[in-house]
Amino acid sequence: MEPIGERFQRETKYDRSLKVSKTRLFAHPEQFKSYPDAPRVKLPAPPEEEGPGLWETMKERESVRSFSEAPISIEILARLLWSIAGVRKEEWGFLFRTVPSAGGLYPIETYIMANRVEGVEKGIYHLHVPTFSLELIKEGDHSPALTQAALGQNMVATSALTVIWTAVIDRCRIKYGERGFRYIYLDAGHAGQNLYLAATGLKLGCCTIGAFFDDEVNEIVGIDGIQETVLYMAAVGKRA
Ligand SMILES: Cc1cc2nc3c(=O)[nH]c(=O)nc-3n(C[C@H](O)[C@H](O)[C@H](O)COP(=O)(O)O)c2cc1C
Repeated sequence: MEPIGERFQRETKYDRSLKVSKTRLFAHPEQFKSYPDAPRVKLPAPPEEEGPGLWETMKERESVRSFSEAPISIEILARLLWSIAGVRKEEWGFLFRTVPSAGGLYPIETYIMANRVEGVEKGIYHLHVPTFSLELIKEGDHSPALTQAALGQNMVATSALTVIWTAVIDRCRIKYGERGFRYIYLDAGHAGQNLYLAATGLKLGCCTIGAFFDDEVNEIVGIDGIQETVLYMAAVGKRA
C-alpha cells in the first residue's frame, strides 16, 4: 500500500492537466480568532531598538533546551510574539504580518503557556492579532500537562513560556484545497524560524518542538483537532 505521506504528496501536486485549487468550501472561516469574554493583557509595542545584526543572529541561532529559573519581562514577551504574528502593515483589508503566509490567508493561530513572565499570570493565552493582546483562556499552571503532552520533554516545564502554534485549516483549504496543508506546514516553519531569530537576538534560548501527543495538546488549548489543530510548539526562556 502507498504510504500516506507519498499519497499526500501525489494527491496535492499541481499538475498541468488539472485545474488548480480544486476544492472550494462554502463558509469562509473567520479571519482571526478571538475570545471576546476572556480577560485581556495588552502587550506593549516593540521598541525601535538596535540589536545584533541579522547575519550574526543567524550564525548564533541554535536550539537551546536548558533554561534558568529567571522570568522574562512582558516587554520581551511582546517582542517574541511580534516576531511571530506582529502586524507590520494594513493594506486592502489584510493585516500583513512579520511572517509570510501563502495567499495572505494566515491560517496559523498562536497560543502561549505562560510559565514565568513578569506581569502575566500563569495560564494558557491566545494571541489576538488585531489588538496585539493576550486573551486568557485557561488560568493556572498547565506546565506539567503540557510537558507530558510533549513526550515528557523537560524544556517545556522549565521554559519561561511555551508557544503553541495551531492552524485553522479551512482558512487555507478554502483557496488551495488539500494542497493547503502543505502551505500550512510551511507557514508554521516560517513562524518557528522568526521566533528562533528573535529569541537569539534577545539573548534567550529557544527550541522548537514537533514531538507531542496532538490530542493532548489540542485538549489543553481547547480546540477540536479537526477544524483547528496543533502543528508545532517552541519552548523559550533565559539560558541556564
Ligand atoms: C520541525 C522541527 C521539530 C523539532 N522538534 C524537536 C523536539 O520535539 N524536541 C527537540 O528537542 N528538538 C526539536 N527540534 C530541534 C532540532 O532537534 C534542531 O533544530 C536540530 O537538532 C538542529 O540543531 P540546531 O537547531 O541547534 O541548529 C525540532 C526542529 C524542527 C525544525
